[in-house]
Amino acid sequence: MLVLGIESSCDETGLALVRDGRLVDHVLTSQADIHALFGGVVPELASREHLRFMGGLFDMLMERQKLSPHELDAVAVARGPGLLGCLLVGTAFAKGLCLGTHARLIGVNHLLAHLLAAGIEEELRFPALGLLVSGGHTNLYHMLSPVSVTQLGKTLDDAAGEAFDKCGKVLGLAYPGGRLLDELAGRGSADPAMFPRPYLDNDNLDFSFSGLKTAAALYAQAHFTDHAWPRPLTSAADAPKELCDMCASFNLAVVETLAAKVERALRRLPDVSTLVMAGGVAANSLLRARMTELMTQRHGRICMPGPSLCTDNAAMIAHAGYLMAVHGLQHGLDLEAIPRGRAIPDDALKAAAGHAV
Ligand code: KG4
Ligand code: ZN
Repeated sequence: MLVLGIESSCDETGLALVRDGRLVDHVLTSQADIHALFGGVVPELASREHLRFMGGLFDMLMERQKLSPHELDAVAVARGPGLLGCLLVGTAFAKGLCLGTHARLIGVNHLLAHLLAAGIEEELRFPALGLLVSGGHTNLYHMLSPVSVTQLGKTLDDAAGEAFDKCGKVLGLAYPGGRLLDELAGRGSADPAMFPRPYLDNDNLDFSFSGLKTAAALYAQAHFTDHAWPRPLTSAADAPKELCDMCASFNLAVVETLAAKVERALRRLPDVSTLVMAGGVAANSLLRARMTELMTQRHGRICMPGPSLCTDNAAMIAHAGYLMAVHGLQHGLDLEAIPRGRAIPDDALKAAAGHAV
């Protein structure tokens, strides 16, 4: 079965091909440089850029693989959550392709696709605890199968990625600051007392990172001047030691907070010995090391995609779409795009009997 995946939920336009569960090829263009000029994603601009790139990227992918659109068995598209205008570009393109080729349309939950991304490179085992840490979400899930996933906790305000990016912003790091902050942290020494481990004094599995962001802003105001390093800072080579030390301390606070709630969740799920980690922040070096250590100590297993599959990409959409197709799921052409803030409905249809999978 040949599945095309389409990702356009935020500022990355991606298309990918998966054949029988294996990644064949993928293309991705990022608009990060454009949005960096504004210090964040500008939704209207983002949807126009998706429209500008989508057709050309599709042609490039199909030509590269010497495939005709009529050879596609299914088109999987990120249907939310995301920026509505951006999602509409992807879903309209997918629907047009399905109308013209009779391929099956599969609407993919972008968050579920992140969680399943590690399955592109290694076999996922269930039941598992899922930790999704991205720019918009910090969620914990109980995963019973690729299509049976229950949310256990979420962030009450900022997501972990948002905390990294906002901390990056007050420090004058180029947007989005997460990756550079990670690199700077690697050059500094963390002071565990510099920042709090927020929202642990409770018995739930939710997160709250907005206080940490404020603590970082207050620390920066009190200790750094605007001229201490070039702004926007784009390279770790130009960073002074005190900046690296602060980044290391902030990084440690976020990672230890995530680890504390993961341990709490694992204590409550005695049948679970696999941790699946996903989303842009799952590319963070300290987080990867800490979670690996935590699972090794528990004689469990960690599944996380390589850093390039942690951030938004279409390979994860095609892969999740393939898994949905294998479970006999598909959508009609009335598939709705779901913006951020609304729950993704459980509205997939069971494929008609006899429909080849
Ligand atoms: O999953 P993603 O690509 O987009 C969303 O669906 O949100 O995640 C993007 C987020 C950004 O906040 C970015 O700063 C963060 O992931 N990020 C990192 C790292 N690489 C990306 N945060 C910390 N350390 C990193 N190495
Ligand atoms: Zn994402």
